[in-house]
Amino acid sequence: MKHSISHSYADPIVSGMTVGGALLPGDPPEFERFISGSRPLNLDGIDWDAIRSHPLPVDTLRILAYMQDVESHTVVFPRTIFSQRAVDDEVVGTFLICWLYEEGMHGRALAKFLACAGHPVAPRPNGRTTFMDHVDRTLTTLLAAMWKDFLAMHMAWGAVHECTTIHAYQRLMQSSEHPVLHELLRRIIADEARHFSFYMWQAEQRLAKPSARRFVRAIMDRMYVPVGTNHQPDDLARWVSGCLFDGDDGRAAAKRVDRTIAKLPGFSDARLLGKWLDRNVYT
Ligand SMILES: [Fe+2]
Ligand SMILES: [Fe+2]
Repeated sequence: MKHSISHSYADPIVSGMTVGGALLPGDPPEFERFISGSRPLNLDGIDWDAIRSHPLPVDTLRILAYMQDVESHTVVFPRTIFSQRAVDDEVVGTFLICWLYEEGMHGRALAKFLACAGHPVAPRPNGRTTFMDHVDRTLTTLLAAMWKDFLAMHMAWGAVHECTTIHAYQRLMQSSEHPVLHELLRRIIADEARHFSFYMWQAEQRLAKPSARRFVRAIMDRMYVPVGTNHQPDDLARWVSGCLFDGDDGRAAAKRVDRTIAKLPGFSDARLLGKWLDRNVYT
């Protein structure tokens, strides 16, 4: 028997509708700005066939593979750093659904780029979940259960990571003239900038409480590591961090990250990324 597919409810792609924009009355404007732009990474017009026509430095490829792994590692987060408090929060919970989807698409887009460049991503030999994921899960569960301001830390941590990611991709763009890579990273950076704005907005609000900001600052001063480094081999993480954040331009980018995060309540004299680089990368 032949089945026909009804087109009575319009295909959103055919009809030209956009995704995103599931707004409710009373949504704060900052949340509206995030959610109305939320969609899987737009890959229209990316010239995948042209990727091999342009040279790509070996170091750029290696850093891209690292970033691809960091982006795709977000798939484990619902089982590790997504706390009950985050899931139950109307705004943060909704944000995380969209954020996870968008980050996952960044990972897939970078995997496609690498495959087209002739360097497909190898599967992780031991699966996706690392020992540090188990540590993250235990700490998140305990801290979030005991501490009602836990989301202040989650949001501040997210702000630092997104800001670092933006600068990392901008530095990566400076490492080659590849036009397709530039266009792809430009689109990914636009997503990261939207993520960053959301985390900063939430962190600013939640750190307004003096006790919350003192506790968040104390924990982050002791436990902060740059995005992804906990789940990568130490030598590789240090090498990538050096490529991106050493040298005159790299050090200037790292300072910009710390200066941006210094705008958060309680962080005016913080140098999270700079101090980690001092200990692990700069000689
Ligand atoms: Fe991303
Ligand atoms: Fe992001």
